[in-house]
Amino acid sequence: MTTSCGHGGNRRAFAAKYGIPEAEVIDLSANSNPWGPPESVLRVYQESASLLSRYPDPDSQFLKKEIARNYPLWPENVIAGNGSTELIHLLVQFLKPRKALLIEPTFSEYRRALNLQGTEVRALLLREKNNFQINTAELLNAAQGVDVVFLCNPNNPTGAVLPRAEILTLIESMHRRGIFLVLDEAFIDWVPEEALASALTDQSSFFILRSLTKFYSLSGIRIGYGLGARRLIEKLEHVKITWSVNHLAEILAVEALRDLEFQRKSRQLFQQEKDFLFQELSAIEELKVFPSVANFFLVKLKNGIRAGELTEKLAAEKIMIRDAGNFVGLDNQFFRVAVARREENQLLINALRRIFEMSHAAS
Ligand SMILES: Cc1ncc(COP(=O)(O)O)c(C=O)c1O
Repeated sequence: MTTSCGHGGNRRAFAAKYGIPEAEVIDLSANSNPWGPPESVLRVYQESASLLSRYPDPDSQFLKKEIARNYPLWPENVIAGNGSTELIHLLVQFLKPRKALLIEPTFSEYRRALNLQGTEVRALLLREKNNFQINTAELLNAAQGVDVVFLCNPNNPTGAVLPRAEILTLIESMHRRGIFLVLDEAFIDWVPEEALASALTDQSSFFILRSLTKFYSLSGIRIGYGLGARRLIEKLEHVKITWSVNHLAEILAVEALRDLEFQRKSRQLFQQEKDFLFQELSAIEELKVFPSVANFFLVKLKNGIRAGELTEKLAAEKIMIRDAGNFVGLDNQFFRVAVARREENQLLINALRRIFEMSHAAS
């Protein structure tokens, strides 16, 4: 089930299509933290009705200071966005690249932004036999002559991660060739040791995208941020839509970033559930599960049933997965599922087992 833009997470449309009450949908198609949002954020949210009639700070200073303090960077190295999606589009509109390289399969919004800008898009296709891992020598080769490379790390939908040290080497080589890197770290909170922010300076030729909608389960309020050289951020701020980050989003984001206990607990629970789901999915003969460091798995259907059909069958059990057939470089054999709480993971596993048993019995 995807939206008109081809993403997962459209629970309302799914509920309407399959005649399920929205509250009963088990959404494994979006990659939100199943233990979020943090309690601390919910408390502040409940006390925030007075903000509804106030204009937000157009510069989101409160949030920028909090983010900058954590790294540490200058608040002027930070730009806040209405989700990191706003910043993907803003950056492309500002950079106006002639040629860009995408490493596919990956998050589709980069291509959308580049197409809207009229940029020539080149693709480096990752190979299934390498578990969709990136080879940096190949990447550099494919990047010859482009202005911008988008690198999603960890990558959606594959869950593969390029280690921090390799990205640093890559950035150096790209810098020498005048290639700018957009590094999307929407899922880096699950592997914080690989984050690049601490390597950023005002001379950097890379930009980091961060989202608070995944790890903090705040998709509904749309909040993300970007980190870059101060000169670049200043220019982006000039062209950004005024008040795109609302007041509520700003204060809830600060609360989330301050909740260290939530972050610790989430990572701990995640590790258990991720291992559980990986083992259980891998034990199903009809499936091939790709290794992932993130809170989702890319899965291949080995024979027979296709992802579209599986999506329909799971919908009958109120379970929503992401048919990954519309990712560039994948086809109708692939789907993606998020790591959820144990009960939901178990429901998924039971449903999959039933579906495959029934399809065996029918053949
Ligand atoms: C890799 C990646 N980057 C960015 C985004 C956009 O996130 P946001 O909700 O912050 O706009 C997504 C959403 O699915 C994503 O998967």
